Parts: sequence; C-alpha cells; structure tokens
Amino acid sequence: MRRPRSADPRWSDVTPKSLFLSRRAVIAGAGAMALAGPARAAWTVDEPPTALEAITSYNNFYEFGFGKDDPKRHAGAMTIDPWSIKIDGLVDRPGTYDLADVLKGQAIEERIYRFRCVEAWSMIVPWQGFELAGLLKRVGVQPGAKYVAFESLARPEEMPGVRKMNLDYPYVEGLRLDEAMHPLTLMATGLYGEPMPKQNGAPIRVIVPWKYGFKSIKSIVRIRLMDREPPTTWNQLQPQEYGFYANVNPQVDHPRWSQASERRIGEGMFAKRRETLMFNGYADEVAGLYSGMDLAKFY
Ligand code: MTE
Repeated sequence: MRRPRSADPRWSDVTPKSLFLSRRAVIAGAGAMALAGPARAAWTVDEPPTALEAITSYNNFYEFGFGKDDPKRHAGAMTIDPWSIKIDGLVDRPGTYDLADVLKGQAIEERIYRFRCVEAWSMIVPWQGFELAGLLKRVGVQPGAKYVAFESLARPEEMPGVRKMNLDYPYVEGLRLDEAMHPLTLMATGLYGEPMPKQNGAPIRVIVPWKYGFKSIKSIVRIRLMDREPPTTWNQLQPQEYGFYANVNPQVDHPRWSQASERRIGEGMFAKRRETLMFNGYADEVAGLYSGMDLAKFY
C-alpha cells in the first residue's frame, strides 16, 4: 500500500547529508573525544534526524507566547551574552558561574535523541551537550541532596509571554538526583552542530530524553540542589494532568488525550502514527531508576 506523500520537507531536503556529517567531523575534531567512544553508539538513535527547519520553527517556549511559531518569531530579542547560572543549595561550591566557566572542561558530545512532547508529537534531534552529572560533580553535591531544581530566564522586557504572565514565571522544573546524574541527561548547548537556537532554549538547556518534553527546561539561569521535591510549573498549574516524573509511558494516558501513539514531526499529517515506546525507547537504560514504583501513581 502506498502511503500519502509527506507535505513537510524532509531532513535531507533541508540539510545536505554531507554538510551535516562534515559539521559532525568539525565537532569531533574540536575535542569531543567521546564521539568515537562506545557511549555514542549506545545513546544515539539510528533514525534520520528531523529537519532543522522543523526543530527550530515548531516550538514550545511559552515565555515567547503559546503559538508554535511564537518562539521563532520573538526569541531573537532574548539577550544570551553575558549569561550566568546560579548554582546553590546543597552544594560544596555554590556561586554564580559565567557560562564559560560552566562549560570549561566539559566534553561536548553529539547525541541524537528521540524527543517526545506530551502533546503526542515527536522529533529526532541531534543535540550537542555534556552530561549534567559532570557539572554536578564539579560543584560538589552534598550528601543531603536528593533533587535538582532548575529555573529559566524570565525577562519581561524581552519575553512577551512573561510580560502577559501567560504562566507563572519563572518556568521551573526538577529531577530526582539519580535522574539528573544519569548519563543520558544532557546540558545541551547546540543542535545540528550550531549553537543552540534561541527558540530551542539558548544558550543552555536540559534534555531528559525519556521524559515528556516539558521536563527539558530551556534557557537555564539557576540550578539548586535540594533535599525535597521541588515545585514544577506544569504540576503546579494542573496537578491531575502533569506529574513530577512525566516519564514517557504509552500505558498511562493524559486525562485529555491518549499517549499510546505519536506523530513524528516532518513526516506529514497523514503519515502513519508511531507507537509510543516505554520511556521513549530508553527503558533498557532507565527503567531501573523506577523499580518498585507504581508508574500510574507517580506519573
Ligand atoms: N522551557 C521553558 N523555559 N519554557 C517552556 O515553555 N516548554 C517545554 C520545554 N521547555 C518550555 C520549556 C515543552 S512543553 C517542550 S515540548 C519543550 O521545551 C520543547 O522544546 P523544543 O521547542 O526545543 O522542541
């Protein structure tokens, strides 16, 4: 049976493969030694990346408005240099660190991850970044720390959604410490070999590929180590719909829509939907973090 042809541009139409591959080589040459290591083979999905154009023009970044095209239209106004991140709470070396200091000594790798939004669409994104664990180890996590809280920039002058207070800002998210320390959890600084586009959360954001996209908080200005579960934006707004864990789970539906299948951005509206994978396809790596937990209760 023939499938209808996709109306959306394909990745290969937008970015010639040779160009993308040569960018990868540049990144590797710049010292991302882990690119060659076994970690990359295990953690990079072997699926064609979604078109750069789609990844950068269909976004959720409510600080710039609710529309999918609002971030691309408005994020240009966000100042990302200078940029610093306050790291505090239960750490040995709290402080306000310049982005350059945060990046210092971290091996930037490319990881091609599945990215699944709670709105039942997904993408394949070639991120560049480093493991959050590396940063947390450097600032020294104290024994009492059990959770990591994140906070995004909230600058009304540059962000129309913040001006309107369309949500309660700053956007806040959190992870359990073991989730934050998991090697899959990235601090992402770019995609497709370019610095992070502003609409995708420049200059630095979290990527947690086994969780729904809203956990992957953008444009981070504060990281705090805590002894208790931190409040999170969507959980505070609609606790029945958005839990703290938000692990991708085809068996636990959102109250208003099914999570059993998803639409892959770039394949067109008429392409066959894909079955959603448990933990977004990362079950082998992360299911152990939740052994003994009722995932319908801790959704
Ligand atoms: N981070 C902030 N600060 N503000 C947001 O509105 N949206 C979240 C997440 N991080 C959001 C955010 C949601 S709902 C999703 S699906 C992803 O970002 C979207 O990331 P992308 O635009 O890079 O695809």
